[in-house]
Amino acid sequence: MTASKPGFATAVAHANIALAKYWGKQDSALNLPAVPSLSMTLSGLHTQTSVHFDSGLAADQLLINGQERQGRELQRVSKLLATVRSEWGESPFATVESQNNFPTAAGLASSASGFAALALAALAAAGLKTPLGRVSALARAASASAARSAFGGYVVLEAGASEAVPFLPGEHFPLVMLVTVLTDQRKEVPSTQAMEHTAKSSPYYPNWVGHAPRVFAQIRDALRARDFTALGPAVEHSTLAMHATLLAAEPGIVYLQPETLHVMKHVRQLRDQGMPIFFTMDAGPHVKALTLPEHAAEAERELARLPQVLRVIPSSVGPDAHVVN
Ligand code: DP6
Repeated sequence: MTASKPGFATAVAHANIALAKYWGKQDSALNLPAVPSLSMTLSGLHTQTSVHFDSGLAADQLLINGQERQGRELQRVSKLLATVRSEWGESPFATVESQNNFPTAAGLASSASGFAALALAALAAAGLKTPLGRVSALARAASASAARSAFGGYVVLEAGASEAVPFLPGEHFPLVMLVTVLTDQRKEVPSTQAMEHTAKSSPYYPNWVGHAPRVFAQIRDALRARDFTALGPAVEHSTLAMHATLLAAEPGIVYLQPETLHVMKHVRQLRDQGMPIFFTMDAGPHVKALTLPEHAAEAERELARLPQVLRVIPSSVGPDAHVVN
């Protein structure tokens, strides 16, 4: 795919939620994951990013939802752009403009869709080839969960892998993820930092790394077999085991808020009443509830009426990242 004008391209990538969680690095410098993870790409949450390489600029510039960003966020973006520039053999700085259709950095996987959209837009703007495996590897070096947002459907990132691979298309087992937004506050500890702290100080971390591949295999096999009664409990176990590892760090990292626990409890109550629904949480307070399409409307109503829930974003399985010029 080529850019519509030289040096410019726009791409869209969708957020993803891990059913089997990635937490921890095999190699911090290369940003390779310590455990295998498996995600669902979300139709309802996406980032659109434009990259404009311009030889008149004195430095890279970053705008997220119209606001200029500097510091750590800009550094991570510049690092990705530097990789593209060295492959390209040209060295102009770039303006990067990114729009999310959901709250940024509140633990809603904005870095995943953000870096995947940036990787694709930057490669396309430089006129380089954009096979999605290459997009995935470039995004992974910036943020490992972003490797999975290059692809639609259900996506696997193996332990130590440099790029994610598509596992199954959404049509194989169309599920619905209900993202309950519990706060618009930015999260306290960024996941990269939290992972490093957990690996260093949590006595449970070695157990997590040893155990996660078994949970991953259960989730992979249940998805392949379209077995929701096997999938749901394994998804809940993956997130709770990850949070247990975080809680046991010194000092403990607590992403789960009182609102989080209320919604988790409500999900289990709905299940006790016969609804097939399971929860998962990432490095933030929000609860994402996984259900079957025929129960999605009722589940959404049930979650939206809780006072702890600001809003619910329903998502079916989303598509591959793509250029939109
Ligand atoms: C809890 O991909 O944000 O969302 O590679 O350091 O950027 P870095 O970490 P990041 O971690 C995401 C962790 C998670 C689980 C997951 O998405 O698998």
